[in-house]
Amino acid sequence: MANCAQELATVFESAARPYSGMDPMLLRENIFGMSLANEDAEPLDTVIRQVARDIARHAIVVQHPHCIAHLHTPPMLCGIAAENFIAAQNQSMDSWDQSGSATFVEQHVIAHLCRLFSYPSEGDGVFTSGGTQGNIMALLIARDWFAQQRSGHNVQRDGLPPYASRLRIIGSAKSHFTLEKAASVMGLGQQAVVRIPTNPDGTMIIEALESTLRQLQVDGLLPFVIVGTAGTTDHGAVDGLRDISRIARASNIWFHVDAAYGGAMILSQAKQRLAGIELADSLIVDFHKMWFQPVSCGALLMRDTSDFKYLLHHADYLNRESDDLPNLVDKTISTTRRFDALKVFMMLRAVGTDTLGAMVDHLLQQGTAIALHLREDERFELLALPALSTVLFRYADLPETLGIDAFNRQLRVALLKRGIAVLGETTVAGKVALKLTILNPCLTIGMFVDLFNKIVELAETLKSDVLAEHV
Ligand SMILES: Cc1ncc(COP(=O)(O)O)c(C=O)c1O
Repeated sequence: MANCAQELATVFESAARPYSGMDPMLLRENIFGMSLANEDAEPLDTVIRQVARDIARHAIVVQHPHCIAHLHTPPMLCGIAAENFIAAQNQSMDSWDQSGSATFVEQHVIAHLCRLFSYPSEGDGVFTSGGTQGNIMALLIARDWFAQQRSGHNVQRDGLPPYASRLRIIGSAKSHFTLEKAASVMGLGQQAVVRIPTNPDGTMIIEALESTLRQLQVDGLLPFVIVGTAGTTDHGAVDGLRDISRIARASNIWFHVDAAYGGAMILSQAKQRLAGIELADSLIVDFHKMWFQPVSCGALLMRDTSDFKYLLHHADYLNRESDDLPNLVDKTISTTRRFDALKVFMMLRAVGTDTLGAMVDHLLQQGTAIALHLREDERFELLALPALSTVLFRYADLPETLGIDAFNRQLRVALLKRGIAVLGETTVAGKVALKLTILNPCLTIGMFVDLFNKIVELAETLKSDVLAEHV
């Protein structure tokens, strides 16, 4: 084991590019060629060297300045230190007798988070594997709460109510696709998701929300939750949370906030943009996004701890009703669960909220600066002004004969496969867009200029290749 840190250090020292550039099919062949048969097992030191040489060297280098595609952050050192404790001690958060001190750390961190988000004293929460799990759990609780309120129906015990096919989840056109995932996992089907149109900046149109709710009522449908997003995946848009809360309250609908991306603004000068989040019945936040923690690390917070009852099931071997020590399995759909709360604990202890907030502010400012830089560069088209730290743009210096959408798709894949840059791709108002998701506070403007030069250089090469083909 001693050589593990040394091997990793060598991998990082030699990581000149965001991806090694090895042909993906060759990489696959090499990896599938590594025998997993019992007779081929080797000493751990040998395996560590092989992992470093043949796997880690071909990893996507999230620390590289030109690896800037997804909500996927370079992890802070304190998080990596925490991962050592987490893996070595292997606590499991389901029951106190598997995670004594860890259970109290998670409760302590959750109480702190509830205070940060200005939840009342009844607030509570639990760590999750990330935004997907958090959204699924919140929507499930919302559905069961609604059925209880509406007809005294107990979904946990009796399954879906007779009116299940009329239940509706309301989000915006830009809400995360986990709403559909949740709807299908919950037995409601994707058809249960109603998406409200958005403004050009990606925020939910509040008037459209109101008119849709009226129409759903006319149609005899039953919206049970409205999901506001604080930081949409592409635009970073923050919905009008106060307005949504008011509308949800007036209609007796659960209000959930997906703050997986934008929740970190609670620490920053931009905190006011989250106004209304404290009114949410539930909210999720992902620490493996703009809180710079290693995957995976998220939390679901509930305004009222008693609503966790919809997830509570007892097992004789694990969480007996008679237990007087806390078993966190009572509040989640997981059983065995990682001690991810330690990463947040160590981050708060070692970095502190002021520095974290300053890092978030820096990312927001840098997103705007980079967007303005691109707007001045005629070779690119800026597709939206950033709301958080994503920049949506595309390469536009093309003759009309070349399809701009197809070209940008081809450009992104070529940048990736050649190990030049890892960029995101999405669509903005029907246009194929390249996306930067800036989550690395160590980047300088010069590094972005270098990136844009490399994009242009490859685009020029691809352009002349394509044009030559047409001759
Ligand atoms: C707004 C939003 N919500 C939820 C998720 C899902 O989070 P996770 O990948 O942690 O499951 C994402 C992922 O990017 C997201 O952007």
